[in-house]
Amino acid sequence: MTSSLMMESAANDGSGRIVVTRLTKQFGSVNAVNDLTFAVEPGTVTGFLGPNGSGKTTTLRMVLGLIAPTAGTATVNGVAFAQLDHPGRCVGAVLDSQGFHPGRKARQHLLVYTAALGVPDQRADEMLGLVGLTGAAGRKVGGYSLGMRQRLALAVALLGDPQVLVLDEPANGLDPEGIAWLRNFLKDFAGSGRTVLVSSHLLREVEQTVDAVVIISGGACVFQGSLKDLRGGQLPRVIVASADASTLARALVQAQITDVVWLPGGQLAVGGAGAQQIGQVALDAGIAVYGMQEEQADLERAFFALTAGQYTAAPTQQYPAQHPGPPRYGPPPGYGPR
Ligand SMILES: Nc1ncnc2c1ncn2[C@@H]1O[C@H](COP(=O)(O)OP(=O)(O)O)[C@@H](O)[C@H]1O
Ligand SMILES: [Mg+2]
Repeated sequence: MTSSLMMESAANDGSGRIVVTRLTKQFGSVNAVNDLTFAVEPGTVTGFLGPNGSGKTTTLRMVLGLIAPTAGTATVNGVAFAQLDHPGRCVGAVLDSQGFHPGRKARQHLLVYTAALGVPDQRADEMLGLVGLTGAAGRKVGGYSLGMRQRLALAVALLGDPQVLVLDEPANGLDPEGIAWLRNFLKDFAGSGRTVLVSSHLLREVEQTVDAVVIISGGACVFQGSLKDLRGGQLPRVIVASADASTLARALVQAQITDVVWLPGGQLAVGGAGAQQIGQVALDAGIAVYGMQEEQADLERAFFALTAGQYTAAPTQQYPAQHPGPPRYGPPPGYGPR
């Protein structure tokens, strides 16, 4: 993005920031998005995470001006998407890669957009090359695989050389090679000072790509911060299987090991002590221990704890004080995994 492009719009602050403030969307009785506030900074890849049905797509559609919020605001470069003078050159988006005209060839498809955006046709060929579709440029999109459609959708999104990229579950349908390519591409894109907001229902999928995450559940924000903070909110613990969990729990507490949680199945999850120390307490109390397993801080566990809200193995007091904790809102009526 050149500075002259940024200056074209007076209302556009050129910051590359996405700011969502108290954003809310109701579909009838369904609270799809619930008082959601977060910011996405330029120069970073931000993961927008949540289980299926948690409100990711609805939020992104509001950011992109495709649907109106029930309440709250979403801005890009300081203004609502619809107020951007050259939205297609500020923001590139991949929301749904199913909408291509099946009879149209990929290159023809891109040329529709180069005309609309006012960029040279040569840009279409460059983007086809970038996403690895040069060899398939003359084929009809109807014969494309899902992964190829995702690549084509990304090529469309990049045509206007946007400052901000918004991608909804772009890894769907990509093979491992495609996912690795996308990861590097997004890192480079953000590394050049631009903004990436990428959604996924799988933390693992974006774990190696993102600098920051916004996690939503039931349409509400449950965590916002770096992966380091998310990981740091989880302490290592030891899972203990013993002959007498209740006596062992009492013995541990007497030994000043107070972070003891019952797990379904009668095991104890013990924090703040190592296996050796726990084994000694059990031995002193005369309780047989059948097994101990040390669990390291685990991002996936943190994610489940935040989004399921009822994941018993991760009590909320294990999070640091500044952590927002589990979802404050229960699932809205009619809400459920799809
Ligand atoms: N157009 C719509 N009409 C009614 N309900 C909708 C509509 N779009 C989404 N929803 C509902 O809003 C909730 C959030 O959906 P969505 O934003 O698609 O979640 P995600 O992208 O995280 O899977 C779901 O309960 C979904 O069924
Ligand atoms: Mg979605």
